[in-house]
Amino acid sequence: MKTETSTMIINPFSLGIDLETGDMPNATNHLVRRASDMKGYYLNENALEDLIKKDSDPIHYEVFELPVPEEYGHLMYCISKLYPGKIGEEYFFTKGHYHTVEQTAEIYLCLKGEGYMVMKTSEGKFEAIRMERGQMVYVPPFWAHRSINTGVEPLVSFCIYPAEAGHNYGDIKEHGFPKRIVEIENSICFI
Ligand code: F6R
Ligand code: ZN
Repeated sequence: MKTETSTMIINPFSLGIDLETGDMPNATNHLVRRASDMKGYYLNENALEDLIKKDSDPIHYEVFELPVPEEYGHLMYCISKLYPGKIGEEYFFTKGHYHTVEQTAEIYLCLKGEGYMVMKTSEGKFEAIRMERGQMVYVPPFWAHRSINTGVEPLVSFCIYPAEAGHNYGDIKEHGFPKRIVEIENSICFI
């Protein structure tokens, strides 16, 4: 890990974020994940393929950021916007990841929508914490995390994490999380 002595000095700045919608007009980085980027993540592969064909590969979620140096000492922040919907019975979710620097935490402040943050550790612990407007979720170091939208509007969160954290998707792509969230007879169920 880099030390304090290698931390770049930059000028202070501010930017506006619409707390109702999550819009960050000055964002310069815009990550878009479409339904086709989610192949291999959901239980019902056919339902995902149907969605890709039917709706011309719709946007699944987006991340907006105005980046800072990815170095120890800086804090990265972004807006994460996950659209509502289901693949088969399974609610839309983000890919989910461990931080590459595993001893880095993250704060999610939910601005809009409702859902869950599911989290796991490599030792087999699992947690699911409810997300709704005004609720903050603290993702401690060493916990992989994925947000899941169980509502009818976008699930929008403001995220802050150490800028050197990095993202490691490999384990989640292969093993997923211990539980999935599905709708059964109009109820939200963990399976
Ligand atoms: C950053 C973070 C979020 C996610 C975003 C998209 O560390 O946790 O900004 O990156 O919600 O999810 P992933 O990265 O799992 O595709
Ligand atoms: Zn993260």
